[in-house]
Amino acid sequence: MKKFLILLPFILTFFVSCQQEKQPEPENMNFYSEPFRPQFHFSPEANWMNDPNGMVYLDGEYHLFYQYYPDSTVWGPMHWGHAVSTDLVHWDHLPIAIYPDKNGWIFSGSAVIDHNNTSGLGSDQNPAMIAIFTYHDPIGEKEERADFQTQGIAYSLDKGRSWTVYKENTVLKNPGIKDFRDPKVMWYEDGKENGKWVMSLAVLDKIDFYSSPNLIDWTFESDFNPDWAAYGGVWECPDLFPLTAEDGTEKWILFVSINPGGPQGGSATQYFVGNFDGKTFTTESSETLWLDYGADNYAGVTWSNVPESDGRTLLISWMSNWQYAQIVPTHPWRSAMTIPRNLELVKKDDGYLVASRPVKEIEKLRKESKTVSGTSIELENDLAEVILSPNQADFKIHISNEKGEIVTIEKAGGELKFDRTKSGLSDFSKVFAAVHKAPLNGIAVESIRIFIDRSSIEIFVNEGELAMTELVFPTSPYTKINLEGFTDRNSLYYLSGIW
Ligand code: FRU
Repeated sequence: MKKFLILLPFILTFFVSCQQEKQPEPENMNFYSEPFRPQFHFSPEANWMNDPNGMVYLDGEYHLFYQYYPDSTVWGPMHWGHAVSTDLVHWDHLPIAIYPDKNGWIFSGSAVIDHNNTSGLGSDQNPAMIAIFTYHDPIGEKEERADFQTQGIAYSLDKGRSWTVYKENTVLKNPGIKDFRDPKVMWYEDGKENGKWVMSLAVLDKIDFYSSPNLIDWTFESDFNPDWAAYGGVWECPDLFPLTAEDGTEKWILFVSINPGGPQGGSATQYFVGNFDGKTFTTESSETLWLDYGADNYAGVTWSNVPESDGRTLLISWMSNWQYAQIVPTHPWRSAMTIPRNLELVKKDDGYLVASRPVKEIEKLRKESKTVSGTSIELENDLAEVILSPNQADFKIHISNEKGEIVTIEKAGGELKFDRTKSGLSDFSKVFAAVHKAPLNGIAVESIRIFIDRSSIEIFVNEGELAMTELVFPTSPYTKINLEGFTDRNSLYYLSGIW
């Protein structure tokens, strides 16, 4: 017995260390190593995700909420999932922020910081973070009522960690229009009157603008739906914000996601360049402009409360398409977000365009850089960024693996084409294997930057003057890039994963 007592501490130490070995640290857990799992794009650990919601910056943290169904890999009763990042690149998962309640499921919306405590829900010392979202009442929908989407708010006084639904009541009732959703709220000040909150709301196939002194009482101001815009499907997820061009010109930009009716079929985001006077948005655009010409960039909206010292307009989008989002071959999660992007207003001969550039923080992931010459690049790592300079008007880029699966990106005449017909798995959907074409609209291609992350390829021409975001499902990693029509001064970076 005595011998046992003497040995006891050693036995305990051994037992405890065995226990510890059974609970390895996250770094040793092959965390996020499933086939197709994005390594430098945000994805939930498991289950279904769609639109990014309520992006707001506060005290060093970028919040990303998102449409989330925690019980399945397909869409269902929506919650707001939650993650935070201090650098827009690495993300920490947090518990679900907002759950469905008696008013319905929690659809897309936005979040703001109520610095002036206009709502009375916080205090001057601790301004509330306020989420404004759509309640989707599934019972009303089943009963075929027209008023089952209303707007609700919830607030947090602890940096988004816990949420209280405002009086469990809706703040903007439905006037009898089935599609009445996705409130994006901003603080508007024109120097003449006291500031006010402005909400852009997708109402069937137009955008309605409402204003409020306190985020609780809303007044209709105007609506927007020019004849010539894209109306192939319902309008969703609007966003309204100013952008300033290099020459100091300020324009207001209105984003409207549309599904279906995008340039590649299914979902995409159109935008309008114009002016907003606090009540009405007018556009100077006269044809449809698309934020991203790929098949897989949807429902993107911008962060609010980004510090003036930063000054950027930051966007993240859902990297999928409603045409096949629910049947892509990924488990146990479905969907990822794009690389966060910085939006810039660029003046062209025939007007302004909105360029979307990968945020500079993504460069932190570069772990090895190579200047590559010649026409063939061997990829030793399947997380890669390449920056290519064409020296011919037309060019081709082939990205392939040992199995003969191949993606071809081609500039021919005035078009950029992304051919994913032989890119890997595609039999899950009739429309996935396709060639997607983007008109260059006079953009002279000076550089083409490509990010490859297992199951996605994002392309930025001239730092985002034209962007294409595309999903691909190669059955083994792409290992080779062949080039036709480029200089021999191209850059290759291998990237680290973020998890
Ligand atoms: C866009 C969308 C939104 C809606 C949400 C529901 O993808 O349809 O209009 O709020 O998804 O999940």
